[in-house]
Amino acid sequence: MDKELLKAARGVLDNAYVKYSDFHVAAAIRLKDGNIITGVNVENASYGLSNCAERTALFTTYTQGYRKEDIKELVLTTKKDYLVSPCGACRQVMSELILPDIDIHMVDSNDNVTSMKNKALIPLAFSEEDL
Ligand code: THU
Repeated sequence: MDKELLKAARGVLDNAYVKYSDFHVAAAIRLKDGNIITGVNVENASYGLSNCAERTALFTTYTQGYRKEDIKELVLTTKKDYLVSPCGACRQVMSELILPDIDIHMVDSNDNVTSMKNKALIPLAFSEEDL
């Protein structure tokens, strides 16, 4: 696990806009060129419009011109002392925007790390092949 990447995620955790859930989530993506892109969850009074940390980080990554081939790994963290894994919507988005064999690291507040391959997070994902 990339300690610097975890530090970057924790560095933005307090920026999560979590007015309604008070559930802070941060994600950090390491690019193959060495750069790091972070994201946090950003909520809305119309709850369903809230954006998760993983998608914030991924959409920023794509905004910067990077694509899935450029992504080395992703770290997800919260302030909780138990495992938090990506929601179903994020898994779907990650299945398209991150390559299948990339490691997704989920880290709790006690530094416990659970790592899974992106493809293992969403078996039988819907994809462009289905269209
Ligand atoms: N959330 C994330 O940002 N990522 C996840 O993987 C799980 C859920 C956010 C959405 C919402 O702002 C808050 O956590 C509580 O559901």
